[in-house]
Amino acid sequence: MNATVSPKPSSDAPGWVKHARLKAWVSEIAALTKPDHIEWCDGSQEEYDRLCELMVKSGTLHRLNPAKRPNSYLAWSDPSDVARVEDRTFICSEKEEDAGPTNNWTAPAAMREKLNGLFAGCMRGRTLYVIPFSMGPLGSPIAHIGVELSDSPYVVVNMRLMTRMGRKVYDVLGADGEFVPCVHSVGKPLAAGEADVVWPCNDTKYIVHYPESRQIWSFGSGYGGNALLGKKCFALRIASTMGRDEGWMAEHMLVLGVTSPQGKKMHVAAAFPSACGKTNFAMLIPPASLPGWKVTTIGDDIAWIKPGPDGRLYAINPEAGYFGVAPGTNEKTNFNCMASLRENVLFTNVALTDDGDVWWEGMGPAPKHCIDWQGKDWTPESGRKAAHPNARFTVAAVQNPAIDPEWDNPAGVAIDAFIVGGRRSDTVPLVTEARNWLEGVYMAATLGSETTAAAAGAQGVVRRDPFAMLPFCGYNMSSYFAHWLKLGEKLQAVGATLPRIFCVNWFQTDAQGKFVWPGFGENMRILKWMLERIEGSAQGEENLFGITPRYEDITWEGLDFGADKFKHITAIDAAAWRKELGLHAELFGKLKNRLPVELANFQSRLRGSLGM
Ligand code: OXD
Ligand code: MN
Repeated sequence: MNATVSPKPSSDAPGWVKHARLKAWVSEIAALTKPDHIEWCDGSQEEYDRLCELMVKSGTLHRLNPAKRPNSYLAWSDPSDVARVEDRTFICSEKEEDAGPTNNWTAPAAMREKLNGLFAGCMRGRTLYVIPFSMGPLGSPIAHIGVELSDSPYVVVNMRLMTRMGRKVYDVLGADGEFVPCVHSVGKPLAAGEADVVWPCNDTKYIVHYPESRQIWSFGSGYGGNALLGKKCFALRIASTMGRDEGWMAEHMLVLGVTSPQGKKMHVAAAFPSACGKTNFAMLIPPASLPGWKVTTIGDDIAWIKPGPDGRLYAINPEAGYFGVAPGTNEKTNFNCMASLRENVLFTNVALTDDGDVWWEGMGPAPKHCIDWQGKDWTPESGRKAAHPNARFTVAAVQNPAIDPEWDNPAGVAIDAFIVGGRRSDTVPLVTEARNWLEGVYMAATLGSETTAAAAGAQGVVRRDPFAMLPFCGYNMSSYFAHWLKLGEKLQAVGATLPRIFCVNWFQTDAQGKFVWPGFGENMRILKWMLERIEGSAQGEENLFGITPRYEDITWEGLDFGADKFKHITAIDAAAWRKELGLHAELFGKLKNRLPVELANFQSRLRGSLGM
């Protein structure tokens, strides 16, 4: 059932909405934004199909050829609205110091005044959709609920794939359950009779978080993490502050299960900055030369991790779908991903082929002709990309053939190892195991990575991205480090075995700029070494920075990868590391106000061992 009602909704909300505070809030936002209609989404297939059809009519979506890609659509965004806008993202805590030096901050009162101005009448001519969603399995003790009010039907259909969205959320919410209120507008009101554009948005953009009151307001963008507020805004920025206050962790981590030929299963959570192959790693297919190993996906982007009664850390994937980067994905790099994309997919900013299917760079042979993401004729001679480098697919997780049977388990899965890794063409070894929690936290805190197209701005520059959380931590980064250290101490104090922490870098290049390590499925060899380390059966050697495998510690059957190459990507180059330590010191200088003394001392010891 679905209900379209007038903009005085408190009494007009459907009978299944019992939550008076929620109804009052919808009334309040409607009074501010003045939509023409209010629609209470129920999450049904009928609703999804109807909204897709509406967007096909308005030109926002192209229906793909059902013989090629059943029940799938393609959207092309405005060229000015193609990625997360980190410079327009704000953490408006009461005190600036609580947002810390890595976040943009404005005093909440001033920001509210600014946004009240921008949101006044901003939904005129549009429908306000009320989108209830659960981050995490409905009713799980690790899950939390949000309600997004958005004037974008594109947001509604994406949220239905990305979250547990719809009427069933109200059953969990009841009459007075807690929810995170999220307000979103594309920021393009329509005057009476004014025709809409295919991708409404506004040059003025604000992605705003109020951590104390746990609210999110987003204005001006219809794209990805700027608009699907359950993802980066809630599941990372707001949830990280909830975790700090309540003793758990919201992390920019994929979660996978790995099963050995003997049937022993472990769970790994891995933090990589945006567009560093997280989806590929989460869906990895081990090479045939490692028979019997199996990798299954719990999540590809975000993990919520809470200590269980036994002191172990249990993780859930708060999302229910994948919003993945399409370019570079093909049957060789990620077979499971391509298999997930056969039907029921929303594509954004990829190219449209002449037979009504999609294409992107790296998918396979280029078509002789297609329509590029800007709606223009494209041929291989055009000299420009047919798909935007940050083009995406949105697809429900259940379509992944390698989905883990536990992916929806409300209790989560017990984590055995954390992996952190960046995109570094030199300096950082292929894999290093931290000798203890502090060393692991130091590795993660000083993570560096070359920037990619997932965010607007310069690309290919190394930036420090602690825990891959730089754009996603909803509070002071130094306090976040302290939270990790404290949680570790607390769990150790009750005798719990903490997950091991490993640092990886798949991306070292040779003198010609080519990747040395084959990556993808071959990463299973590294995963295998890690798991054997945890079991206590594999060796390694100590270096400046943890424990690295020797050549003979890795299984090489079926892969021609010589000891010299291995040395090249695992050796510690003292000169490069002195430079690296200089950059770590720069980061810690920036974060010095609340930096845990343990991390500063650890850094001094490292500098000492390098004779600095
Ligand atoms: C993402 C990102 O979209 O990290 O997952 O940018
Ligand atoms: Mn991400």
